[in-house]
Amino acid sequence: MKINYTDRLCFAHLPTPIQPMKRLTSAFEGAKIWMKRDDYTGIGVSGNKIRKLEFLLAEAQKKQTDVVITCGGIQSNHARATAVAAAKLGMKSHLVLNGSRTVARDGNLMIDLLMDAEITYVTPEEYADNLNIMAGIAHDYRRQGKTAYVIPEGGSNALGAWGYVAALDETMQQLQETDLRIDLMICAVGSGGTYAGLQIGATLLDVNFEIWGVNVCDDAPFFTKVVDQIASEFKKRYYPDLDWQHNRIKIIDGFVGKGYGLSSQEEIDVIKQLARLEGVLVDPVYTGKALFALKSLIHRGDIAIDKKVLFWHTGGVFSLFPKRDLFF
Ligand SMILES: Cc1ncc(COP(=O)(O)O)c(C=O)c1O
Repeated sequence: MKINYTDRLCFAHLPTPIQPMKRLTSAFEGAKIWMKRDDYTGIGVSGNKIRKLEFLLAEAQKKQTDVVITCGGIQSNHARATAVAAAKLGMKSHLVLNGSRTVARDGNLMIDLLMDAEITYVTPEEYADNLNIMAGIAHDYRRQGKTAYVIPEGGSNALGAWGYVAALDETMQQLQETDLRIDLMICAVGSGGTYAGLQIGATLLDVNFEIWGVNVCDDAPFFTKVVDQIASEFKKRYYPDLDWQHNRIKIIDGFVGKGYGLSSQEEIDVIKQLARLEGVLVDPVYTGKALFALKSLIHRGDIAIDKKVLFWHTGGVFSLFPKRDLFF
């Protein structure tokens, strides 16, 4: 089926490659693993968020936006990619970050500052109300005669989901061209938009394999609801004919570990293992947890030995640096 896309900017280096992970496959002693390298979407904009921002910022540009406002953790990949993309478009970025002004200017935060993003630092309690905080900031800009555009956490709304509809479309073409038949896709789930986009794309393209999402915070019922809401909104706004079935959603719970942004030794070990076997860098907050989940699911027999798995590398490399002490 040919998908009718909504307006989009071209920021990311696409298509990102699909690479076989032969040495990792041998080490995990099970299913064959390939990796979709969305860490290659760019350098400043590296990772999954730029795919969503291609659509979100197209709308922002159409509205002649002066300031893009978004939010995230102090090491948010999404906030960093937004700051970089906004700079490129000549827009100001204003980030609401969950963390202290005194924290080290490292990793993603260093890049936010390099891009001259304005930052409002908030406590975890304040951050829970991030939508209202961003609405207040937008209101202040509007009073100064500026146009403000608010992007929700992770760029995870119906418009942002288009990024991963397009990513699935791109991947299906690659699989077809290389005659690679996979049985399963796996990705990390942090705010739900990537997984929602993949599942919407899978519905539109009628794919015949499963897509599992590994939640790195909250739990399966929470994300099942979030993904269903994004997909339902997508259907309402863009694709009334979408045959959305919420029972396609499969969130694999049990890998939050010590909590959001916190790492166990086993998670750190699998990040080192991948680096040393394949020369690939995954992050401790998202892709490292999803990779640990993949390893555990293979070892538990939840993914059979004869399966072919495509693992989405959704980026996050800069958040390795502030966590350097966990590795050595
Ligand atoms: C590197 C990385 N991978 C995966 C995710 C999860 O994507 P989503 O927020 O769309 O669920 C995020 C962001 O949350 C991320 O920064």
